[in-house]
Amino acid sequence: MLPDKTVPRLSIDPFSDGFLADPYEHHDLLRDAGPVFWLERHGIYGAARHAEVSAALKDWQNFCSGRGVGLDDFAVEEPWRPPSLLLETDPPVHDRTRSLMNSVVGLSGLKALTPLWRTKAEALADRLVAQRHFDAVADLAEAYPLSIFPDTIGMTEEGRENLLVYARATFNAFGPRNAVFTETDRAARDAVPWISHACQRENLRPGGWGMAVYEQSDAGNCDAEEAHLLVRSFLSAGVDTTVTGIANMIYAFALHPDQWRMLRDNPSLRRKAFEEALRWDSPVQTFFRTTARVVELGGTVLPAGAKILLFLAAANRDPRRWDQPDARASVIIQSYPRVFNPVLSLSPPALSKGGHRGLARRLIAVRRRVVPPPRAAQWNTNV
Ligand code: HEM
Repeated sequence: MLPDKTVPRLSIDPFSDGFLADPYEHHDLLRDAGPVFWLERHGIYGAARHAEVSAALKDWQNFCSGRGVGLDDFAVEEPWRPPSLLLETDPPVHDRTRSLMNSVVGLSGLKALTPLWRTKAEALADRLVAQRHFDAVADLAEAYPLSIFPDTIGMTEEGRENLLVYARATFNAFGPRNAVFTETDRAARDAVPWISHACQRENLRPGGWGMAVYEQSDAGNCDAEEAHLLVRSFLSAGVDTTVTGIANMIYAFALHPDQWRMLRDNPSLRRKAFEEALRWDSPVQTFFRTTARVVELGGTVLPAGAKILLFLAAANRDPRRWDQPDARASVIIQSYPRVFNPVLSLSPPALSKGGHRGLARRLIAVRRRVVPPPRAAQWNTNV
């Protein structure tokens, strides 16, 4: 159904190669078009300002996740994969699964893992310092999460290389069935069955998060089929996001060496630096919601069952929200006090309200303490 004539219409395709190559170039156009706009290429609504993106994410009753957080509407279309019991649900199902996962990823368990994660981080940093030159994406941003994540879940050794391939296909499946989707979907042909195999109870080691989910099914908090899907959530949501978050941070420092020097001189800033890097270049650029009923957003009345694309990354740099939000002209750590990131702030405040606030927040709280300050001091500015 076409929107009211007062809604600005844009011909831009946010899933085209040109847009994806540099989304930030197009964000002013999106934000300036209006609080809500219509994307003609896909017949969907969009919002890119902080106020509307934030409002929609907080309002699960009107902007639901259960009909998919991608372009596909699960009410009428076949999902790419069996829907996630976390990301693609609303309360009351979401409350149950989320509280189950919260008990698996408890803060005390995370703290217990910190020494091991730190040791691995130090070993990797030592190796990279000794090498003197390294590829920050492959050798650091991908290597570090892959060195700790599969063991944390309790996965077997074989086939771990499928994790990145699967995560890429999953994230690209949130968009249209274009060439980007087809390419990563084809590449993931072997990874999809492997992920399903890896999530089965008999393929998980005792003591890992994966087995802990199955123990929740033993306790009657979910059934075995649900446990399988919940373990899959770790594998789809935990790798690509972390890799991109680290890679984006290194890129930010490469562009702002003064900020790298500031961090090197004062390693206690590392938490702020990582959080600000998440705002500066959001690992999760967009997510969809579907209107559950007729609802007003930013002065626009949306019909029931409408898909709306929320541009998290554009909201993260909305000048209506902060002075000088464009970090390209600004700085990384210095701008921290006035910024936020999508994980920490673009999510509802309370689980009971259906919040999809990532488990990442907890993990980040621990992981940002893992970066070993002495090694950081040895890295020079040519990152
Ligand atoms: C820098 C790293 C990360 C970023 C930027 C990130 C970002 C996000 C965002 C924006 C959402 C909300 C999606 C929505 O509202 O529709 C989310 C949800 C989620 N994330 Fe992350 N994430 C990160 C790391 C992780 C990790 C390491 C894990 C698990 C090991 C994880 C697991 C999840 C899960 C299970 C959800 C769904 C939560 C729910 O619906 O209750 N994420 N993440």
